[in-house]
Amino acid sequence: MYRKDPKLAHYPKKVPIRDGQVEVRPMSQRDFDEVRLFFKSLPRKDRLFLRNDVTKPEVFTHWFSELDYSKKLPLMAFYENKVIGHALLDGEQRSWSPHVAEIRVVVSNEFKKRAVGTVLAREVFDQAIARGFEKAVAQTMDIQEPARRMFERMGFRVEAELKDHVKDLDGNKHNLLIMTCPLEDVWNKMEMLLQDFSPWVGWH
Ligand SMILES: CC(C)(COP(=O)(O)OP(=O)(O)OC[C@H]1O[C@@H](n2cnc3c(N)ncnc32)[C@H](O)[C@@H]1OP(=O)(O)O)[C@@H](O)C(=O)NCCC(=O)NCCS
Repeated sequence: MYRKDPKLAHYPKKVPIRDGQVEVRPMSQRDFDEVRLFFKSLPRKDRLFLRNDVTKPEVFTHWFSELDYSKKLPLMAFYENKVIGHALLDGEQRSWSPHVAEIRVVVSNEFKKRAVGTVLAREVFDQAIARGFEKAVAQTMDIQEPARRMFERMGFRVEAELKDHVKDLDGNKHNLLIMTCPLEDVWNKMEMLLQDFSPWVGWH
């Protein structure tokens, strides 16, 4: 259970978004059905950016059977008990880059542009810093402009662009952007971002 981990003991946490608030907490075993529903509801174009084919039930069985917050931390945003956003801190130790954490974020279509993505990214960063990671990486495609803007606002920059590296569900090739951010810079940028949003969502 996540509450036994001091770094996660403050969850669940209520966070304001534009015109409402969400509850953020780590994914746990009891969320199986809700999580499946969330991923099933994503538009086809958003599913493309996930590493796994979430139309396959065995993907969820695998995720839940290997739930280990010290390696991969899945955080979720709930609105009225329904999952509306999911983020992953992938900090699985790799021998040649143990200091690098990868983050992924996806938000349901109905809740986009209400700050849910930024809220989840902020929580994931908090955890990455708490775990001692020195660098964050996010992978997006050239056509994922909202994702690129979100990460850029947080201080990420495109460090590499791999030409024609990914294919979308229709077989069209796109460039893969490897965006990175030194973690110590993140909180400065976040402060500025929250100041921009505060008149609408009441962040301080
Ligand atoms: C990228 C993604 C996670 C962003 O989620 P989101 O919840 O829409 O993100 P936010 O609401 O924090 O920010 C989106 C926009 O809303 C605006 N916004 C959010 N809250 C606001 C507020 N209170 N007042 C004014 N504007 C606000 C932001 O400025 C931003 O504007 P921009 O796109 O013009 O730059 C989402 O688009 C998504 O799921 N995409 C598909 C998956 C993906 O690409 N993931 C990234 C790769 S891992």
